[in-house]
Amino acid sequence: MVDLRVRIGRTTLKNPIMPASGTFSEGLARLFSLDHLGALVTKTITAELRGGNPTPRVAEVGQGMLNSIGIPSKGVQHFIEQIMPEYERCSAPLVVSVSAPTAEQFADIVRQLNHPGISIIEANISCPNLEEDGKAFAMYSRSTAAVVEQLRKATNLPLWVELTPNTGDVAMVARAAQENGADALVVANTILAMSIDTETFLPRLGSLMGGYSGPAIKPIVLRMVYQCAQTVDIPIIGCGGIATTEDAIEYMLAGATAVQVGTATFVKPSTMIDIIHGLSAFCESKGIARVSELIGAVKDRGMQVDKLEALP
Ligand SMILES: Cc1cc2nc3c(=O)[nH]c(=O)nc-3n(C[C@H](O)[C@H](O)[C@H](O)COP(=O)(O)O)c2cc1C
Repeated sequence: MVDLRVRIGRTTLKNPIMPASGTFSEGLARLFSLDHLGALVTKTITAELRGGNPTPRVAEVGQGMLNSIGIPSKGVQHFIEQIMPEYERCSAPLVVSVSAPTAEQFADIVRQLNHPGISIIEANISCPNLEEDGKAFAMYSRSTAAVVEQLRKATNLPLWVELTPNTGDVAMVARAAQENGADALVVANTILAMSIDTETFLPRLGSLMGGYSGPAIKPIVLRMVYQCAQTVDIPIIGCGGIATTEDAIEYMLAGATAVQVGTATFVKPSTMIDIIHGLSAFCESKGIARVSELIGAVKDRGMQVDKLEALP
């Protein structure tokens, strides 16, 4: 029997596979028992009532998907009263993803979520920071540091911070999150992208630009996971284009302790369960007793990293 357990801060997950925020609903329980998952991650919730973005909100583009769903939310009370009871039937730890337009409002929503059914807070800091220039908090080390500092003061729950790939130096942002109290990092949210229909000349998304996800982004985000793992000591949860067992293994070898599966669930709802079985079979075939042995086990080709970075 392969030991699939992984440890993220003070939380032990029964396996490293969980859904990505916004791509999962408790309705999947009709297809398989959610107890099989390492954790459950909710769609991002916000304090205020919000509608979504203009339609169309999704488009299939190349080997991936563009979305501009936005964060439609019915607020915290609705979440606690109507949605939480569904999740509370499951044994997997509940990770609640939150977002807000200012650091203070971020802290406020986190305070309201001090509820026994919630195991972990995931701060989606890829949203616009309205106190600064409207760019996402996670684009810069300074705004990341400021918001994570507030969040750390606002909760004793484990705090996962979800970074954006839309930044020049993800490792520096990762360091800022660690230094200000993040317990783990989720690397990463979607890549800002756009697509135009050449028949109609119209952008494929109602809001012009959106987030790109799915297999196309995997090599880019994998590189970011590796860079973050070289820079911080806290666990990293890899997220971007994972659709197969091999994808999950690649992320773990690059330094991820666990992974989130998003777009692939839309294509095949049982993807996460397939990957859990696949991880076990892979480790057994290689004589690996614990899946955690894969974390950061990528081998060195003997080249200096600075030489690699100098390549075009
Ligand atoms: C339709 C859709 C909705 C999403 N909603 C959220 C969300 O509410 N909060 C969040 O942090 N990320 C959200 N994401 C981003 C995913 O959590 C994930 O970071 C991204 O899709 C990359 O993973 P993937 O390639 O496996 O899909 C969403 C992604 C998609 C495709």
